[in-house]
Amino acid sequence: MSAPHLSVLLNEVVSAIAPAPGRHVVDGTFGAGGYARAFLAAGARVTAFDRDPSAARYAEELGPDFRLVIAPFSTMAEVLGEAVADGVALDLGVSSMQLDEAERGFSFLREGPLDMRMSGAGPTAADLVNTEPPAELARIFWIYGEERQSRRIASAIVRRRETTPFTRTTDLAEVIERALGGRRGARVHPATRAFQALRIAVNDELAELEAGLVAAERVL
Ligand SMILES: C[S@@+](CC[C@H](N)C(=O)[O-])C[C@H]1O[C@@H](n2cnc3c(N)ncnc32)[C@H](O)[C@@H]1O
Repeated sequence: MSAPHLSVLLNEVVSAIAPAPGRHVVDGTFGAGGYARAFLAAGARVTAFDRDPSAARYAEELGPDFRLVIAPFSTMAEVLGEAVADGVALDLGVSSMQLDEAERGFSFLREGPLDMRMSGAGPTAADLVNTEPPAELARIFWIYGEERQSRRIASAIVRRRETTPFTRTTDLAEVIERALGGRRGARVHPATRAFQALRIAVNDELAELEAGLVAAERVL
């Protein structure tokens, strides 16, 4: 199957990880398997992780030197047990497939449920915007999105949810756009930073990264 996700910095990652026969590499963010395939092609054994069960569809026929574990990469030390890795690659964030599928709710450009969960478990983005206090919403937009208008967006969300809770991506995007006074010729959509921030919060991505770095140090 040809990869639907264009791997970022593939040559640089392969050169830094130096996969080779006899080496064992962990790909902590399998996605469509672009990195994993390159590590395998260089003769390495690969243990891959992805917290999104739908990533498994790209893992077929990768051979006996490959294993995919559907779990967060923060679990790699437990999963590997005594096994040692010679390299660990983490390609953080979302894949093109996740952004393209409207039903996953990651994109403000696609009408879909306000979900954003990579694993499909736990509270959704709709749960956050419909229940978190305004100060917490503003913190999420400010810290995870570096959104300077974080309080203004949080107030608009809270005002609107009093009458109608949010359920759809484009609905939230429109409320954010209005709160920021429209597009005003901006090249990027006004909801870009807020959507990124919600995705990071829903998936607890910074805590995952911290735990993942500790786990990677243990397995290396
Ligand atoms: C940018 S894509 C990776 C693309 C991959 N390098 C490729 O070449 O196809 C990120 C992937 O990592 C997964 N992911 C993000 N955070 C994760 C985590 N903490 N644990 C496991 N997988 C994670 C996402 O579900 C997504 O499939």
